[in-house]
Amino acid sequence: MDKSIRVVEGVHWVGVRHPDLRVFDDLFPTRNGTTYNSYLIEGTEKTALIDTVKEPFAEEFFSKVSEHIDPTKIDIVVVNHTEPDHSGAVAQVLDKNPDVQIYCSKAAENFLKQLLNRSFNAVIVNDGDEVDLGGKTLRFIITPYLHWPDTIFTYLVEEELLFPCDAFGAHYCPDKLFDDEINEFYADFHFYFDCIVRPFKDKVRDALKKCEGLPIKMVCPSHGPIRRSSGQFAIESYARWCAAPSSGGRPKALMAVLSSHGNTRDMANVIATELKAQGVDVEMFALSEMRDDDYRDALEQADVLLIGTPTIQRDAPPHVWHALALISSVTPKAKLGAVFGSFGWSGEAVKMVEQRLTGLKYKLVADGISFRFTPTMENMDVCRSFAEQVAAAVLTEE
Ligand SMILES: [Fe+2]
Ligand SMILES: [Fe+2]
Repeated sequence: MDKSIRVVEGVHWVGVRHPDLRVFDDLFPTRNGTTYNSYLIEGTEKTALIDTVKEPFAEEFFSKVSEHIDPTKIDIVVVNHTEPDHSGAVAQVLDKNPDVQIYCSKAAENFLKQLLNRSFNAVIVNDGDEVDLGGKTLRFIITPYLHWPDTIFTYLVEEELLFPCDAFGAHYCPDKLFDDEINEFYADFHFYFDCIVRPFKDKVRDALKKCEGLPIKMVCPSHGPIRRSSGQFAIESYARWCAAPSSGGRPKALMAVLSSHGNTRDMANVIATELKAQGVDVEMFALSEMRDDDYRDALEQADVLLIGTPTIQRDAPPHVWHALALISSVTPKAKLGAVFGSFGWSGEAVKMVEQRLTGLKYKLVADGISFRFTPTMENMDVCRSFAEQVAAAVLTEE
């Protein structure tokens, strides 16, 4: 079995490796496995754990903790984030010491109650709160949505270590724990960001602002290598990836279109021409052949999303549902939308897509339009009016 690893004097990694994990959360591929990092911090008065590990790894975790302290003597568990890959062994810590204090955000307390279904001693922390372990001071930074609403960062003041849980992590299971002992893992670091953190770019900006000016010697995330020599690089990468969408200039419409027989595409072209005439730039995506990443980037820059869909077998085609599913994987710049399309028999798709957009908290800026088979001249006039309404709404929002 693995051993604990010293990070600095009085701070040890007591996490576990999961090298053969191939899909994280049953959602994201993890070609290089992952780790569940937990840290034991020993002050002269108290001992704290920062996060735990996924429940099936609890035995190995406690064996590492036991190298330093009887686990029944742990005073504090800081729960930076309650997702079970980090809180999975909290129940067993409570079994060993029911009086242990759990430092966490208010949201985390609520989540933990329903994850554990038992009582526990919670200490709710706010921005800047500190706890002194005896020569080692933990300071808390409230950073909601990195990755859940409950998330906080913990900062070890004397050693200048940042424990940001999921943020700045990577699903990457190295042989050695520190970044300067292994090959670079940028692709995994970037892919992890894309899967886990990208939907919360605005929250990342808030979190980075709170960390501004904080001296940080190491970034000790909860997945993947500890950044002993590249903490600033990780922070700067997040700052770059999460920069606010560009502003100024003409507003932008993203049109995502699927057209089986060319009719929906003809409508799209008329709508696009009118939008441009009204002062709105257009970026058009053919849903059947677009790259997901290009579309996701465009969503983060677009002032309005227009979806053109035919109806096939009384439904919108899978490509359209896929484009809708990708919305929650990014931070859209705006949540304005409108839907149009051609159909042959029944024409349900436009309404269905409108309902989905509404469910995703989009505001529909024009009533959806759909026409049977080849649009007539009159139908195309309606398309122009539709575009005028969309443009008016977008220009008003500017
Ligand atoms: Fe998480
Ligand atoms: Fe995690």
